[in-house]
Amino acid sequence: MAKYLVTGGQALSGAVRVSGAKNAVLPTLAAILLTPETCVLHDIPDLRDVQVMMEILRLLGVKLVVTQDETRRHLLACAGSLDTFEIRADLTRQMRSSIFLMGPLLGRLGKVRIAYPGGCAIGPRPIDLHLRGLAALGARIVERYGYIEAEAPRLRGVEIHLDFPSVGATENIMMAAVLADGVTVIRNAAKEPEIVDLQNLLNAMGARVKGAGMDAIRIEGVRRLHDATHNVIPDRIEAGTFMIAAAITQGDVLLENVIPEHVESTSAKLREAGVNVREIGECMRVTNKGRVHAVDIKTLPYPGFPTDMHPQMMALMSVCQGTSMITETVFENRFSQAEELRRMGANIKIEGRTAVISGVEMLSGATVEAADLRSGAALVLAGLVAEGQTAVEGAIHIERGYENLDGKLRGLGAIVERVE
Ligand code: UD1
Repeated sequence: MAKYLVTGGQALSGAVRVSGAKNAVLPTLAAILLTPETCVLHDIPDLRDVQVMMEILRLLGVKLVVTQDETRRHLLACAGSLDTFEIRADLTRQMRSSIFLMGPLLGRLGKVRIAYPGGCAIGPRPIDLHLRGLAALGARIVERYGYIEAEAPRLRGVEIHLDFPSVGATENIMMAAVLADGVTVIRNAAKEPEIVDLQNLLNAMGARVKGAGMDAIRIEGVRRLHDATHNVIPDRIEAGTFMIAAAITQGDVLLENVIPEHVESTSAKLREAGVNVREIGECMRVTNKGRVHAVDIKTLPYPGFPTDMHPQMMALMSVCQGTSMITETVFENRFSQAEELRRMGANIKIEGRTAVISGVEMLSGATVEAADLRSGAALVLAGLVAEGQTAVEGAIHIERGYENLDGKLRGLGAIVERVE
């Protein structure tokens, strides 16, 4: 099993390019299924989740060609004729996002069979909002033998009110509704930038979607979608992770390929903690000297502080001056990094959905285990400032969502090695 060996103590400096967003590219890849024509996607990150999604698409019969230039990977994809409506259990179990293949397959083929999805171990992650949305659009859904089967010769537009602004459910329903008869309105929709990115791709394919980024999304169904070219937005969580890497190591890092507005809640918290964060066009420069101050954080749907950034922030708060609180409201059971950070000398208490972190002067290297993607990133960040060497086991989780994390950190002067 691969792990990262991190030797702490280097102040990071230099420039790093942020990759295309994992959470944008996954629905985008699913959307390819909606048209028999060729789509071109730019800035496809090389991530394990993306590899799994591409494997699923290939098995469905989609032709994929990946090319690479100096900085980005590009994908040419054609779902001309699909061979099957079934998605293999071993692949869906590797990635929760496989659930949003349901919407496009229903829209395109009128039928889908998919095993229950897997994904990060961060508490129960039900899919009821996805299924209720698809059922409201007219799909007949049967759950048996560990599979979900959905069928609808033709979906019908409808008004859907989500109990919670679920990112995945919003995306799934959007993709199902673009080929439905009539108008669909999704209320209490998720407002994440990845939803806007999906709307942009769908509209480039000839769909009629309005309102992404706001509470209500209106989708007027069309008969057919066509070819399109699309640039995947930069990964705001990867950007935030490198911002914290600069802050925690008291470094000076220029992040290239960032949409500053997308990382606003992270920038604001870092500034409150005493970090210097500057926007320079599509770049951000993050510099820090000395220990940061304690700040309190509560995770919320966008534009609130992202749940995907709280573990990294916990690593930073572990070495801050003072006591901070992190309250997680989006997922239950997302504090797996706390116990591992404690092994490194952090002082963290968990009370229900809140973590109370009393900053310590120094962490010490230890062998720790990444239980999920973002907690793994948090442990690597902690390793960057810990005395001695930290071994972060479970690199496989980190590689689901970070492209070349060790290489990018080395480029900034960190001492990080990936070993099998
Ligand atoms: C997406 C992101 C993930 C991020 C999360 C919240 C992708 C590929 N992943 O995940 O990185 O952490 O948004 O910003 O974009 N819920 C239900 N029923 C449902 C669906 C969700 O109860 O049918 C609950 C979940 O258990 C969770 C909350 O809603 O507590 C948020 O989940 P959701 O927004 O759906 O997250 P994902 O789309 O899975």
